[in-house]
Amino acid sequence: MSQKSIRTVVFPVAGLGTRFLPATKASPKEMLPVVDKPLIQYAVEEAVAAGAKQLVFVTGRTKRAIEDHFDKAYELEVELEAKGKHAMLELVRNTVPSGVNCIYIRQGEALGLGHAVLCAQPIVGDEAFGVILADDLIDGQGEQVMSQMAKEYTKHQCSILGVERIPPEETQKYGVVSASEFNSELSRLTGIVEKPKPEDAPSNLAVVGRYILSPRIFQLIEETPPDAKGEIQLTDAIARLLEYETVLAHEFKGLRYDCGSKLGYLKATVEYGLKHPELGPEFAAYLESR
Ligand code: UTP
Repeated sequence: MSQKSIRTVVFPVAGLGTRFLPATKASPKEMLPVVDKPLIQYAVEEAVAAGAKQLVFVTGRTKRAIEDHFDKAYELEVELEAKGKHAMLELVRNTVPSGVNCIYIRQGEALGLGHAVLCAQPIVGDEAFGVILADDLIDGQGEQVMSQMAKEYTKHQCSILGVERIPPEETQKYGVVSASEFNSELSRLTGIVEKPKPEDAPSNLAVVGRYILSPRIFQLIEETPPDAKGEIQLTDAIARLLEYETVLAHEFKGLRYDCGSKLGYLKATVEYGLKHPELGPEFAAYLESR
């Protein structure tokens, strides 16, 4: 890897989203809105702020909603223009800034996150790239998490995982890393395991939905056998990557909401509602009054 910055970010959006059925029957969970924007738009804004010029969406059977969201909406734009609703017109037009390309790839079957990332290989090619899981909505402190990680990538030119300290009893929901100190911002991965029992977990540092990965990961995913559920896990391929290259863990600054779960999604809705410039004060008063 010798490129200076991250050009491509991959958004795997082909999961079945079973925890949100029936909402996710005909639309991916990444289209669930938090206040007034779908999760995937927060993720795209984070990637663009980090300098991404190429956005790769790995979509599943419900791909249309995402493609349509980032596409030009001719009829809607004409209607809004005719009615003089210029502020709304801007919101509809600016889902993706000019100069940024959106590319859609189909993951035929939901064979796991590792497999979804592998589907992006023909577009990503031989470059390091970012991965954002839009259902992990992170309110970055100071700057967004992909920007924090892209800066570290510029300095260290190696794979970097976004990690967070979790309550020890929750290790079975995450990939958990073992790591040694690298510098004050980063640690160096020495191991990674998927969903360990608390007593087997090497630490309470969990991988969350932000990655910068070396292109070597593609070959290693190809070599990764499916797990007991038939899914190809990205975590297993990252464990192999450690045999060849340095992988760093970045304990990000910010607050994460697990919007793949109903409770996390509700928490995000409340917090983003309270922060919303138009709704915040009224919503706070409503919550007070209940
Ligand atoms: P999850 O583990 O949350 O799975 O995926 P899921 O299927 O989306 O949701 P549940 O557990 O059934 O409710 C983590 C991320 O990986 C993507 C998902 O879209 C999500 O962003 N993913 C997962 C894929 O793109 N393809 C897959 O085969 C699996």
